[in-house]
Amino acid sequence: MTPKAKLLSTGMYVPKSIVSNALLAAVMDTSDAWIVQRTGIRTRHVIQNTYTMLQQLAATPDREAYLATVDDTGVNGTIDADMSTADLALAATKMALQNAAMTPKDLDLIIQTSVVPDYLFPGVACVLAHKLGLTTTPTFSLQQGCTGFVYALSMAEQYIKTGTYHTVLVVGAEVLSAICEYTTRGRDMAVLLADGAGAAIVVSAEADDPSGCLSHHLHTDGTLLDKLYTEAFGTTTFPLLPRQKRRADRVRPHMVGRAVFAQAVRRGCDVVRECLEANKVVLEEVDHFLFHQANARILEAIAETLGLPEAKVHVNIDTYGNTGSASIPILLHEAVQARRIKRGDLCLLAAFGTGFSWGASLLRW
Ligand code: ACO
Repeated sequence: MTPKAKLLSTGMYVPKSIVSNALLAAVMDTSDAWIVQRTGIRTRHVIQNTYTMLQQLAATPDREAYLATVDDTGVNGTIDADMSTADLALAATKMALQNAAMTPKDLDLIIQTSVVPDYLFPGVACVLAHKLGLTTTPTFSLQQGCTGFVYALSMAEQYIKTGTYHTVLVVGAEVLSAICEYTTRGRDMAVLLADGAGAAIVVSAEADDPSGCLSHHLHTDGTLLDKLYTEAFGTTTFPLLPRQKRRADRVRPHMVGRAVFAQAVRRGCDVVRECLEANKVVLEEVDHFLFHQANARILEAIAETLGLPEAKVHVNIDTYGNTGSASIPILLHEAVQARRIKRGDLCLLAAFGTGFSWGASLLRW
């Protein structure tokens, strides 16, 4: 009989530094009221470098000159980051391993996902293996934006179902504050994005185990690429990062907020319906909806369109902001730790993001 993929444990990590809406309002033209009303976000966690930079930016009389100094010599005279994407992934992984009573050597495969890597090569998964002291464990990195965790989970399930691997680490980690431009020009994304990591240990279970993944549904619409992207350091130009690219404003993230909003709601609703139909499950049977935390209004619109009860839709965007591919595993971890999710509960995970990509997973906890 084909084995099942079962989530055995979870873990998460967010940096200690917390950025309030008031701090953002001190460095750009925005306000706590605007951010709360349009996004539902009140605070977000960021790496110490971002936090120190924001505090110094708020205190300086000449923000432009200060940012030029940071660009030149870094924060407090150093360009070395205090935490990288792999560092965040490591912290979440350690917690997931501890919760499963496992050590890194118990992992048969690591699938890691993030938007911003440590290095151009190798991928963050290799850097994580280095930090875990692993010498033969296979690893790979996915760059699938906010949908990354759902994609990675579906891949873990394939390896487990075929009997190739028994124990797979799936980890989403993001340092999204590093790509934000903390100025009025960059405010649309700067108020949304934040740093964090979430992990799950997925193991092979007997086919008749009541817990496990039931199905995954993945999609991408490549025609919407221009609605959300960051060109930065890449092969769209030659050389990779010429001065002209920066002068032409082709380095910072670009987002058509309203289009992303509309797509997230439309595709989010579509994929929830698709997932339910494929499993012949009705909405009422689902105990928990764990959606990517992009914007509280997106979550409200999906819930309203589908008629989901508020109590079943998990929300933590007010505290963490949008942590990309880390948002679903962080949400899952918190719900499991708080014992809101119990063994046997039916959970529907759905994500949407750059690409434009979207996907859903149904699993019994
Ligand atoms: N503070 C104050 N004003 C702002 C801010 C800000 N942070 N950002 C934009 N504005 C201004 C705009 O400049 C605009 O001003 P104008 O009328 O003078 O031109 C005004 O607010 C309205 O802008 P809209 O973009 O129309 O505002 P909207 O209500 O659509 O909200 C937002 C903007 C929050 C970005 C929204 O479109 C959104 O959430 N979209 C989804 C994007 C998303 O979730 N992206 C996350 C990354 S990818 C993912 O996870 C799916």
